[in-house]
Amino acid sequence: MEKFVITGGNALRGRVKIGGAKNAALAIMPASILSDEVCRIKNIPNISDVSLISKILAEINVKVRILNKTTIEIDPRNIIKKPVSCDIVRRVRASYYLLGALLGKFSEASVSLPGGCNFGVRPIDQHLKGFARLGAEYNIDSGVINVRSKKLSGNNVYFDVVSVGATINIILASVKADGLTVLENAAKEPHVVDLANFLNSMGADIRGAGTDVIKVRGVKYLKGTSYSIIPDQIEAGTYMVAAAATGGDVTIENITPKHLEAIKSKLEEMGTIIEEHEESVNVTRKTPLKRCNIKTMPHPGFPTDMQPQISSLLCLADGTSIVNEGVWDNRFRYVEELKRMGANISVDGKIAVIEGVKKLTGTPTKAMDLRAGAALIIAGLAASGETVIENIEHIERGYENICQKLLNLGANIRRISEGCEPLNVARVL
Ligand code: UD1
Repeated sequence: MEKFVITGGNALRGRVKIGGAKNAALAIMPASILSDEVCRIKNIPNISDVSLISKILAEINVKVRILNKTTIEIDPRNIIKKPVSCDIVRRVRASYYLLGALLGKFSEASVSLPGGCNFGVRPIDQHLKGFARLGAEYNIDSGVINVRSKKLSGNNVYFDVVSVGATINIILASVKADGLTVLENAAKEPHVVDLANFLNSMGADIRGAGTDVIKVRGVKYLKGTSYSIIPDQIEAGTYMVAAAATGGDVTIENITPKHLEAIKSKLEEMGTIIEEHEESVNVTRKTPLKRCNIKTMPHPGFPTDMQPQISSLLCLADGTSIVNEGVWDNRFRYVEELKRMGANISVDGKIAVIEGVKKLTGTPTKAMDLRAGAALIIAGLAASGETVIENIEHIERGYENICQKLLNLGANIRRISEGCEPLNVARVL
C-alpha cells in the first residue's frame, strides 16, 4: 500500500509546470476512435486514469503508442467491434465516453456501467436520453449499457441538467450522424471546448462549444490530426491553493489564466496576491487568510472539483465560511478527515459551515477520492507535525508526479511505497 507522508510547515516556493487536462484527455482519447486514421495527442498528463483508458482501448484493438513523456499516438485502424466490459471500465468514469464514440462510429455500443469517484448518485439518464433523441435504442443488462441504432440522425437535445459527461457523449455520438444536432443547456467547461476543437481539427463541424447551445452538423469522415490538450485547470488551482495555504510564493506555469478566473477571484477575496501573466500565474500570501463563502456551479462558476481543496484552506481562515456544493449530493466525505486534523466544520446536506481555526495538526488520514485526497495534501502541507495519507491511488488518478512537483517547491513530502515505483505513463501504458 502506498502513502504520502507530509511534515507540514514549509512555505512552498518556486515554479511548477502544469500538465494537460485530465478531463479533456479522458474525452479526447476515446474520441480519436471516430477517425479511421492515426491521431497524435500532445500534452497528455502522466496519470493513472490515462493509462487505464489506454488499456480499455487496447481491449478493442486500438493501439496507443508513446512517442515521448507527453505525446501519444492513437491508431484505431484495426479496431474491432465488441462489448467493452473489462474490469478496468468499472474503475474509470470516463470509460462511458466509449458509448458515444462507438455509437458514433459503428451505430452500436455495449459498455459496462462506469466507476470513478464516489460523491453520491451519478446518473446517466441525460446521456441515454440524448442517444434516444438521435434515434438509438438502449437497455441496461447485467451492468452493461447497450445502445444501438439503424441510423443516427441529428435532432434537438435539451438537457434537463447541465452535464459535462452527457454533453461530451452526445457530441461524440452526433459528430458523424446525419444532419444537424442542437444541444441545448449544454455544459460550457473548458474541456468540452477542447473536445470540440479536437474533433473540428479532424474535420468535424461543431459550433458554439463554450456556450450553452452547441450545434453539430454531421460529417461523413474524420481524418487523423495532431492536437495539444489544454492545461489542467484543477491541477493549477490545487497548486494555487497549496501556495496560499502555506503562505508561499509559487509561479504556476503552462496554464490558461482565463480558465482560473473563479478560483483566482476567491483566493483574492481571502487575501492572496495573484499576478497573472500570459501563460502563468504567481501566487503569494503574506497576510492572514480571510473567510469567504463559496458555491460550486457548472462553468464558469466555481468548479466542484476545487471544492475540497479550497475548503481545506478555509479551515485556516479568520471567521466563518459557508461552502455550498451545487453540483453533487455527497461531496463532503473528506470533512471527517479534516476534523481529525483539528478543523471545525459542520455539514448539513450540501452545505458545510467552516469555523476557521488557528492551526491544523498532522495525523493519519485516508483519501476518499481524487480531490478529497488533494484537500488532505493541502491540509498536511499547512499543518504542524506529520500527516500520513493512505489510499493515494485516488490522488494519482488525476495528479501527475505530485510528490516530485511538491518536493521541487520545498515541501517535506515522501511517497512510501512497498515495492512500487511512482506511476510512469511510459511504463504503465
Ligand atoms: C465531470 C467530471 C467531474 C466533475 C463534473 C462536474 C470527468 C471525467 N468528470 O463529471 O470531475 O466533478 O464533471 O464538473 O470529466 N447528472 C444527471 N444526469 C446525467 C448526468 C449528470 O442528473 O445523466 C447530474 C449529476 O448527478 C450531477 C450533475 O448532473 O449532479 C453534473 O454531472 P456531470 O457534469 O455529468 O458530471 P460528470 O460528467 O460525471
